[in-house]
Amino acid sequence: SMRAKMPPCNFVPEKYRSYPYEHMLKIREQNIAPSLRMYYKKPLLLHQGHMQWLFDYEGRRYLDLFAGIVTVSVGHCHPKVTMAAQKQLACLWHTTNIYMHPSIHEYAEKLTSFLPDPLKVVYLTNSGSEANDLAMFMARLYTRNFDVICFRGAYHGGSPYALGLTSIGSYKHGVANGIGCSTVRFLFLI
Ligand SMILES: Cc1ncc(COP(=O)(O)O)c(C=O)c1O
Repeated sequence: SMRAKMPPCNFVPEKYRSYPYEHMLKIREQNIAPSLRMYYKKPLLLHQGHMQWLFDYEGRRYLDLFAGIVTVSVGHCHPKVTMAAQKQLACLWHTTNIYMHPSIHEYAEKLTSFLPDPLKVVYLTNSGSEANDLAMFMARLYTRNFDVICFRGAYHGGSPYALGLTSIGSYKHGVANGIGCSTVRFLFLI
């Protein structure tokens, strides 16, 4: 056959111990918002990830070259990242940003050390939508202009500001949004 051989993998996933596939589909239909659309009639039921590997409920292994769809991470469950997250979770979860805690300061200093002057101030957000909201807000505040141009067909997130930028009909739901956002078509000129 012409099928490429999968590279070897030493990692052994844990045994899948949750509901059968059909029951998962039923829960998805009945209890999870339909706006979390699945693009496949028989979507994968993924169970575990390790670096570039994904494992489904039957233990089938997939080589994942992207670790996401459009927003990408550093592979799955990278031990270094997992350990850092576990260490923080065991140390302190959440208080408030009116106090100080070392992690955010260490991170801000390290992150900005990679950036040239005057890019020395960071504002960390929880999501892409929030980052885009903030970018729009700061641009409007700084320039005192209001209008924003975005590309038709682009996805920028689902929060109120970002949804204005998002220019895909299926995300709009016929509710007014995007005041000040104008969409343009992009053309490739050869
Ligand atoms: C290009 C792009 N911008 C913004 C977002 C929104 O990010 P989030 O889902 O973290 O709010 C996404 C999410 O997929 C994205 O792909």
